[in-house]
Amino acid sequence: MDGNGRWAKERGKERIYGHFEGVESVRAVTEACVELGIPYLSLFAFSEENWQRPQEEVEALMGLMLKSMHNEYPTFLKNGVRFRVLGNLERLSGTLREEIAYLEKATAGGDKLTMILFMSYSGKWDIQQAACKMAAAGESDLEPFLVTAGIPDPDLIIRTSGEKRISNYLLWQAAYSEFVFTDTLWPDFRKESFRAALEEYSSRDRRFGKVNK
Ligand code: IPE
Ligand code: MG
Repeated sequence: MDGNGRWAKERGKERIYGHFEGVESVRAVTEACVELGIPYLSLFAFSEENWQRPQEEVEALMGLMLKSMHNEYPTFLKNGVRFRVLGNLERLSGTLREEIAYLEKATAGGDKLTMILFMSYSGKWDIQQAACKMAAAGESDLEPFLVTAGIPDPDLIIRTSGEKRISNYLLWQAAYSEFVFTDTLWPDFRKESFRAALEEYSSRDRRFGKVNK
């Protein structure tokens, strides 16, 4: 989810205003997934690198996440959404961690859509922590130790705001993902943009390194 700051700047407003508006896009895309029967939605909300932003913005973002998660709880239950947060959660505040733990437990029965918020996450960090655990366990298969263990690899990764890079997202898991890059800024990315991205995805020929029969 990229382009919140630029969206706000275009309107002569503070960056946080773009983040607020971005929450509406999250709601729209989540709804679309439930409507379309898409079983997993992952959102890269805050990277390990994002901790280096000005403290004021980090605090505002954390406050917004806490509030939004809390507010969405009834909608999660209504729509059968299982909510999960993955990343280096030790860096999050106690309050946020408590809210996350509560929501993950309370929505564990959600069977329509698993929504995964990646927070304080980076792909390199994930591989590193998995490698340490794998070594400690004396095993050789890395996947069960990644934070995404048990979750299918993403079929499609959408990056908004015209940037064409992976920015330390799901490095391991994206091995065979399809990518859609759009110039649309995240706060403008609503159901129609999501449908267009899915349309583009459906025209791709996925071979996974093999040849088509
Ligand atoms: C994405 O929007 C939200 C987060 C990374 C938290 P940005 O804040 O990166 O917006 P731009 O890229 O500055 O426009
Ligand atoms: Mg950005």
